Amino acid sequence: MPDINWQELYKTATETTKLSYSPYSNFPVGAAGITKSGKIVIGCNFENASYGLTLCAECSLVSNLHTSGEWNEGNPLMAVAVVDKNGDPCAPCGRCRQLLLEAGGTGLLVNEVLLDELLPNSFKPEDLNNQ
Ligand code: THU
Repeated sequence: MPDINWQELYKTATETTKLSYSPYSNFPVGAAGITKSGKIVIGCNFENASYGLTLCAECSLVSNLHTSGEWNEGNPLMAVAVVDKNGDPCAPCGRCRQLLLEAGGTGLLVNEVLLDELLPNSFKPEDLNNQ
């Protein structure tokens, strides 16, 4: 289990806002996370002229987590920092809470808050077995 250095995660997330493509909202978002094994992954928002197709920073992070080849159920995401361009914590949107749940489970910390608190009574992979 890695020590979670929140200061470093917030710093990396803030740096990552510089990669954001957000000409429509002018609201760059950066995310930085760490897996159980200590792998750091980042993400930023990437907007689209068809506004609803925008990808959030957390979505980009989860995608990068998978393509890094590091993720598996034994090596979940442990902690994620999500910030705006000033480095202030940004609340994850509802869709991203669900995306993060698949990558880190209810014990994932998002901006130092348990995902189980941000998304209580969530729909989980094991719910698919309840038929
Ligand atoms: N955004 C994120 O990247 N993550 C969130 O959880 C909240 C919203 C982005 C989407 C859009 O590019 C901009 O913030 C304004 O909504």
